[in-house]
Amino acid sequence: MATALRLRPLLFDALPSLAATVPFLALAAAPTALERCTALRDYLGRDDVWMKRDDLISPVYGGNKVRRYEFVLADARAQNATGIVTLGGLASTQVMATARFGQFLGLPVTAVLFDQPITRFAREAILTNINAGATLVYGGGYLRSAWRFRQAQQSPGAYVINPGAASPRANLGYVDAMLELAAQVERGEMPRPDVIVLPTGSSGTLAALALGAAYLGWDTEIVGVRITLRVATNALTIGFIRERTARWMTARAPEFGRALGKRRGRYRLFHGALGPGYGYPTLESIEAMEWYRRLTGRTGEVTYSAKALVGLRAVARDPAYANKKILLWQTLSDVRPEPAPGTQARVPKDLQWVFDGEAVA
Ligand SMILES: Cc1ncc(COP(=O)(O)O)c(C=O)c1O
Repeated sequence: MATALRLRPLLFDALPSLAATVPFLALAAAPTALERCTALRDYLGRDDVWMKRDDLISPVYGGNKVRRYEFVLADARAQNATGIVTLGGLASTQVMATARFGQFLGLPVTAVLFDQPITRFAREAILTNINAGATLVYGGGYLRSAWRFRQAQQSPGAYVINPGAASPRANLGYVDAMLELAAQVERGEMPRPDVIVLPTGSSGTLAALALGAAYLGWDTEIVGVRITLRVATNALTIGFIRERTARWMTARAPEFGRALGKRRGRYRLFHGALGPGYGYPTLESIEAMEWYRRLTGRTGEVTYSAKALVGLRAVARDPAYANKKILLWQTLSDVRPEPAPGTQARVPKDLQWVFDGEAVA
């Protein structure tokens, strides 16, 4: 596994005109490792499934925000931003990643938080954000949160990161990640995957991986395990993000559009893991948390990592995939900062209730 920062994305070598116009800030220890999921043998009914360890991509905070923040936070710096404003659920990993990297780069972070089921992970997230010096604004329901998010954006010098960070600029991170995977396949670290499985919300990661596969000329199917409502994650939103990203990249690097041609990559959504909604535990996801622990040594959580395993199992046990090479793309951070003693007392008053009563998972 890489332990040093990767100073230049492969995409800049493949598309030199991007390098000339797009700012980049090295945050990732890449390439991330490819490993066999042998600990899941009994869960999946096979031991020939691989995983890509983006959970280990940074000691500051890992997971699937890091590759996109190499472009997004570089842009914030290039625009002389004096702070970052973002929006996410109470347990949002995006908010945690923003708080941790904002602190690392000396950029104050304001995060508006909307309601979601209270898990131990959500409590940990709030304490992590406080420890990282973020200003937390409780939004409550979606509408009031959106309004507060708009208000927060008015502060001078604020750089806005929308939920999911699925802008074309951010998506460069996972187009580049496909080039990284291709180089690893080339080196014989794993066979070319027929299927890549990952949890999917805003769909930025999925759309970018599909686009990257199309650019490479791979017919790999990207399976997104849907973790939120269909209105947010569907063929229309994915198609929109993918097309916008392809156009944005082609406008800056016409050679990308020429290489891509009409290909856009293959993907599908797996709908069977969600349960009652975003952030809600299901019996299957609670069972999967134990398998996630056996796989990574970490507890995981019910929203993304556990539901991804539920989707992975469905794919791995599907007879149509019996001979397919399957890759699980890990997206949750392995870094889980230990809250400093007394942090809970520093939680804003209108968020103190999050620590009352039993957590749902
Ligand atoms: C751990 C984890 N996995 C997957 C996702 C989904 O990624 P995307 O929003 O790009 O679909 C997220 C989004 O926040 C996440 O935090």
